[in-house]
Amino acid sequence: MEARIAGLVRKLEETHHLTDDEYRELIQNRTPEAAELLAERAVAARQPIYGTKVFTRGLIEISNICKNDCLYCGIRRSNHNVERYRLEPDVIVACAREGHELGFRTIVLQGGEDAFFSDDVLANIVARIKQTCPNTAVTLSMGERSKESYQRLFDAGADRYLLRHETANKAHYERLHPAGMSWERRMQCLRDLREIGYQVGAGFMVGSPYQTVEHLAQEMRFVEEFKPDMCGIGPFIPHHDTPFANEPAGTLELTCYLLSIIRLIYPPILLPATTALGTIDPRGREKGMLAGANVVMPNLSPTSVRKQYELYDNKICTGDESAQCRGCLGLRMTLIGYELAVDRGDIRKS
Ligand code: SAM
Ligand code: FES
Repeated sequence: MEARIAGLVRKLEETHHLTDDEYRELIQNRTPEAAELLAERAVAARQPIYGTKVFTRGLIEISNICKNDCLYCGIRRSNHNVERYRLEPDVIVACAREGHELGFRTIVLQGGEDAFFSDDVLANIVARIKQTCPNTAVTLSMGERSKESYQRLFDAGADRYLLRHETANKAHYERLHPAGMSWERRMQCLRDLREIGYQVGAGFMVGSPYQTVEHLAQEMRFVEEFKPDMCGIGPFIPHHDTPFANEPAGTLELTCYLLSIIRLIYPPILLPATTALGTIDPRGREKGMLAGANVVMPNLSPTSVRKQYELYDNKICTGDESAQCRGCLGLRMTLIGYELAVDRGDIRKS
């Protein structure tokens, strides 16, 4: 490996900072040897904070009804081939309780921007989960809402919010979304969430259409500056009923490389090995963990609706019961020397 790249890795590990040009160079000139070195340093940085514990979040996909029309997303409003569903509040609470019994101490409610989930409805669901699942964090991932709405949900007991910024570059954002959706607004939502007191998850897709190395350097700058508590990154995977049906998917290799860099930028960060990573490679989640990730998010949705929450083609785990998913992931993690934690899995900032 070039001494220059090894020097950049060392600088990143020691200072948690590179210039934009240096990020570009590190990403552009990557080699398998550089990836190996980065992964080794990322695992070393994670070790004193999280050891070999893998945090789990039980994901409940509560609705695939969405008013938005993101060009990459399989459940976008314009896709008329999707059979739409929304889970009843009682069903959502029952799924959360099942998750709690299985050992999950974080429940994530995710869905499209579905007007049914008003502040009243969602706040009530959050409060019921907090009451019935002791010592459990509730994470919401329900898209863009007003600051007042985020505040109501926080007051009802929500602990965390996941809202991927999707790209740190405004012009790139505008190529991935229809007119009317705004990058500034998305970024403002992240700031609002942080101000209210949520633990905040941001994130982006790797290999999304039109993404360049410059954009990826900007992503690394964003992580350095905003320091999200969690950063969800997974490969873009085309969905056959979207305008991006024929675009190539992002790669496992680049996703793992970026996971390692992000771990070194901000060692305590929560980094999921995503379902999308497990979809493009049968051992994707394990490889993500070995590159520096420390979170997995198995599915707790009722099996009857899982195929309908198809954001991209060939999504894994759509046929399995929740207990099977947890068991399967537990085994996968054991086989690489890690273990699932029964823990809320809060970020550990020294
Ligand atoms: N509506 C909420 C929101 O906008 O944040 C949550 C649901 S949204 C479907 C969750 C995430 O799925 C998005 O932030 C996006 O990054 C990811 N996603 C959507 N389509 C995808 C695709 N084709 N490949 C990979 N990830 C995708
Ligand atoms: Fe669901 Fe493996 S994680 S079957």
